[in-house]
Amino acid sequence: MKGSLPAETPELTKSCCAAAYSGDVVAMVLGESYHPGGLTLTRGLLGHLGLASGGRVLDVASGPGATALVAATEHPVEVDGVDLSESNVARAAEAAREGGLEGRVRFHVGDAERLPFPDGAFDAVVCECAFCTFPDKATAARELARVLRPGGRLGITDVTIAPPGLTGELAGLAGWVACLADARPLEEYSSILAGAGMRTVHTERHDPALARMVEQIDARLRALRMMRSTIPALTGVDFERAADLTAQAAAAVRDGIAGYAMLVAVRDQGTG
Ligand SMILES: C[S@@+](CC[C@H](N)C(=O)[O-])C[C@H]1O[C@@H](n2cnc3c(N)ncnc32)[C@H](O)[C@@H]1O
Repeated sequence: MKGSLPAETPELTKSCCAAAYSGDVVAMVLGESYHPGGLTLTRGLLGHLGLASGGRVLDVASGPGATALVAATEHPVEVDGVDLSESNVARAAEAAREGGLEGRVRFHVGDAERLPFPDGAFDAVVCECAFCTFPDKATAARELARVLRPGGRLGITDVTIAPPGLTGELAGLAGWVACLADARPLEEYSSILAGAGMRTVHTERHDPALARMVEQIDARLRALRMMRSTIPALTGVDFERAADLTAQAAAAVRDGIAGYAMLVAVRDQGTG
């Protein structure tokens, strides 16, 4: 069920994943947020986190910053976002400035497995479409728990993979970058979080959101392919390979192997 990368490549896998989500082409293909369900699902997730006035929220693997910006715009909280990709952090900071939110939202370069924040600093932590890509999930889970105050809430939306798991290219680096190769069943995410002192209190399935996202990627890739001679950022994009991987992902979704889910957990009062 797990991805098949050699154990000695986690740093390479992480930087590869961050680099893959950094380019302008990704923004063109994925749109304002980089996860299935878009900001509608983000709003649903935030609604489960009990965000109160003056609260502090951390968005781990914040990508282009959409989740953090929605949290700060629609809730009376301060938000920090952290992402491994410098260019995503710059993109997110620019979006915060454009939205007049730079006083309440900050973005930082950092690794989910070594979060640059003190213990118990946040009332809530969110992580959308990224936990599945962290090579050392147990360490990342301990970090998420560490920066949460006791009783604070963690909200995750993520890819899930059901038995018999992925095969072929999707089980390798390409699948890892596509957030598929090391995704786990929802129950396994719960048990990894439990091992870090976080108790799952709510789950929802959102499989159709993943199916819609794969369709959207396919449609945008086709459109961009037709425009490739007019957009410099598209030079060098291997549209055939991208279309092939998208078709494999669509099949995994259709076969009920790949899906998408929300999970909300509470940090144990005694952890830490
Ligand atoms: C699919 S995108 C999701 C971005 C954002 N959460 C969203 O939903 O729009 C995955 C993001 O995870 C980031 N990432 C991958 N590994 C990371 C790590 N170890 N620590 C921090 N960020 C990481 C990537 O740079 C990328 O921005």
